[in-house]
Amino acid sequence: NDVPLEMHKVRIVQKLNLPPIERRLDAIAEAGYNTFLLKNRDVFMDMLTDSGVNAMSDKQQAAMMEADDSYAGSGTFTKLENKINEIFGKKYFLPAHQGRACENILSKSFVKKGSVVPMNYHFTTTKSHIVINGGRVEEVFKDEALKITSDDLFKGNMDIAKLRDVIETNGKENIPFVRLEAGTNLIGGQPFSLENMREVRKVCDEYGIILVLDASLLADNLHFIKTREVACKNNSIREITREMADLSDIIYFSARKLGCARGGGICTNNEEIYMKMREYITLYEGFLTYGGMSVREMEAIVVGLDETMDEEMINQGPEFIAYMAKELQKKGVPVVTPPGGLGCHINAMEFVDHIPQKEYPAGALAAALYLVSGVRGMERGTLSEQRDEDGNETYSNMELVRLAMPRRVYTLSQVNYAIDRIAWLYENRKLIGGLKFVEEPSVLRFFFGKLDTT
Ligand code: F0G
Repeated sequence: NDVPLEMHKVRIVQKLNLPPIERRLDAIAEAGYNTFLLKNRDVFMDMLTDSGVNAMSDKQQAAMMEADDSYAGSGTFTKLENKINEIFGKKYFLPAHQGRACENILSKSFVKKGSVVPMNYHFTTTKSHIVINGGRVEEVFKDEALKITSDDLFKGNMDIAKLRDVIETNGKENIPFVRLEAGTNLIGGQPFSLENMREVRKVCDEYGIILVLDASLLADNLHFIKTREVACKNNSIREITREMADLSDIIYFSARKLGCARGGGICTNNEEIYMKMREYITLYEGFLTYGGMSVREMEAIVVGLDETMDEEMINQGPEFIAYMAKELQKKGVPVVTPPGGLGCHINAMEFVDHIPQKEYPAGALAAALYLVSGVRGMERGTLSEQRDEDGNETYSNMELVRLAMPRRVYTLSQVNYAIDRIAWLYENRKLIGGLKFVEEPSVLRFFFGKLDTT
């Protein structure tokens, strides 16, 4: 049947706290109706993100105990370098403190004024780094990508014709790289297929453009390729990973999601590319054998990468998410389908269709959901966008509330609690009103902006 089964047992626990609704009302007001600004002590289920909050395994904990520390040349770094080489087949590895640090290094190295970077979909931090260096993002997704409910199993695929068109229109000399994001975050954790990646590679080869893979959400994408792409059904996760890596000139990742710890890194087989980025690592991140990570984190990533090659580990997130999406659908709640990775995504545009986009429906729904449940989700809509140069709102294509599913953290009964509360809120959705900014930062405003009810 469709009820997910935990392929692990719990051996260390953390006590949770479910504050009474009166406290939750004060807490969300104190947080400026921004779930990023809630304190953990006021949160029951933290479904803000899967970043840095996944459960660690006993093997990861054990590895962390025997880390080899030194500023330069630690054995732990060599272990990580070797693991990257074993799994991705890449010779050169540059460590960084997290995913966006890799994006900073990449953008500093390759993006200049007038650059255009085609990608299947933007991510918030990626876009900001490209824009800050004078470049521009061009999204080349298929129309299906933005359909909330769909049968398309690979909504993260690039539209190859659009990719060619962007290259032809802007000139290949202005395209520093093409970026493919695994488990496409902002459209609901949607995967691309291996077949699509091969086609993207072909176009890159034709024009002599490098292909960059953002592998932060690789685990989910691997699971979906394995279970949804018929041609890959008999391939091991390791084989699929290696082919994806072989198709990429550069792979970067946030180890906060991939490897279940902290940190991040960039790898390549191209010496010239490596040399170009290397200087920025020592300038912004740290020496080449730690790049802002502690040796304990690096040890955890080594084990975490190995565990990512295990289908019984990487299926946990997507299976819980699929269950949650299905149960919510049964109760009429509009969610993104097919269910993706990362989290269950609620369609706020429909859930609170009485709130206009200028009053941030997804932000309002995220705040309301916290109030009625103590569950903390994240706005992924217009609040997460940036105003244009003239100060006008850039309305997001989708207004989503993301309920992230940290890997191996919540039990099915906790997930059922969240489903029950969301269904109640849906029945009573007309109680929810819009939001307006009272304090609006100019960059990545969703992180620390404050709002009030309209
Ligand atoms: N790329 C993708 C696809 C991501 O999802 C993230 C982070 C990053 C890059 C940046 O990595 O956080 O380590 O600097 N996503 C987190 C999230 C923040 O909650 O979706 P980072």
